[in-house]
Amino acid sequence: MSEQSSKSYARALDSNDPLKGFRKQFVISDPSLIYLDGNSLGRLPLKTVKYMDNTIQEQWGDRLIRSWNEGWYQQSFRLGKKIAQIIGAHPEEVIVSDSTSINLYKLLYGALKLMNGKKEIISDDMNFPSDLYIMQGLVKQFDNQHTLRLLKSPDGITHDMTELVRMINKRTAVVSLSHVAFKSSYMYDMERVTELSHMHGALVLWDLSHSVGAVPISLRSANADMAIGCTYKYLNGGPGAPAFLYVRKDLQEKLVNPIQGWFGERNPFEFKLHYRESEGIRKFLTGTPPVVSVSGLEPSLDMVLDAGIGAIRQKSVSQTDYLISLARKWLFGKGVRLGSPEFSEKRGSHISLKHAEAYRICKALIDPVVGQRVVIPDFREPNNIRLGITPLYTTYEEIHIAMEQLKYIMDNKIYEKYPRSRDAVT
Ligand SMILES: Cc1ncc(COP(=O)(O)O)c(C=O)c1O
Repeated sequence: MSEQSSKSYARALDSNDPLKGFRKQFVISDPSLIYLDGNSLGRLPLKTVKYMDNTIQEQWGDRLIRSWNEGWYQQSFRLGKKIAQIIGAHPEEVIVSDSTSINLYKLLYGALKLMNGKKEIISDDMNFPSDLYIMQGLVKQFDNQHTLRLLKSPDGITHDMTELVRMINKRTAVVSLSHVAFKSSYMYDMERVTELSHMHGALVLWDLSHSVGAVPISLRSANADMAIGCTYKYLNGGPGAPAFLYVRKDLQEKLVNPIQGWFGERNPFEFKLHYRESEGIRKFLTGTPPVVSVSGLEPSLDMVLDAGIGAIRQKSVSQTDYLISLARKWLFGKGVRLGSPEFSEKRGSHISLKHAEAYRICKALIDPVVGQRVVIPDFREPNNIRLGITPLYTTYEEIHIAMEQLKYIMDNKIYEKYPRSRDAVT
């Protein structure tokens, strides 16, 4: 076989890839564009176009209000059952609803109410800011009786488990963490953290946004209490697609939903004037779901289930290792260093490369000089070039070309031609 850093080696890896058939199931209108941002917004599956068209033309256009009894009313549960298979939960433990931030608010509120005597929330300084904002808001809402304590990363890339062990104690009400960190891709050992928290009588809430659809998850074997997650990243649900929430069966009765609306009522169409909480996971719903947006999620969930999360992870590990090996050969020592854990068992499916000029380097990839391919990563403050690997459609050859172009941009300081001013969305 040819040398590992050659393009023919990348092509050979692609031709032996057991998941290679899935790329054809996505809209790829510009085959020369290298998309490495599926960890932020997944590509559009071909079937979703037909599926959403059917939702609009037939279900809305023809069937009108009758569609509520012909599938829409059960949609949040039906899709929740499919997500349950992807995250190792029981079918009656997951629903599709609201946004990740709102779901976090609902579950964390319920958890703090339940753990009334305990006044500490533990999270970390690599968590997604929206999660921390929700926690800070809840502390205020509960009249500042709680303390939010953040585990500090020693290097901005990983966390020290012994430090977390030291922080969790009998005053801890909830440990609320991202399973995979949005910048560095650091992945917690879910079973270990959950067990540790339970030993001190604390609840655990996992944000699965950067792991669902990319990493095998078993909430059941971890005995996790609560979880939330986005569907527009590796689950390819589309921009602003609704999120999901999970509550372990035995906790569902104990947690209150702070935003009780008619969709969480025992029988909304009795129109009772006083709220009666539903049994089971339904009680965490609030209002009418965004039907068109929810429907866009279904074909993609089927695709992930069809490919199998084990095979997806295997390819993700191989591709992220491959990317790092090229970075090591071509970029390290040129102001670039790895911003993600080196070992695959400690990381998710994206890799961050750190460079002082990361922003302008990202611009040079996205809006390249003549003769180069458009490569779409994203930039995360202050110095991360974040490269998302989505095994259902990312090829080894694309990774190879993207890394070659990065080398060219560094060697020739091409980024100096780009302005430093930031776009609103990076
Ligand atoms: C880890 C994580 N949590 C929460 C959110 C917020 O999601 P939403 O804006 O859908 O509420 C995001 C968004 O990217 C995220 O990456």
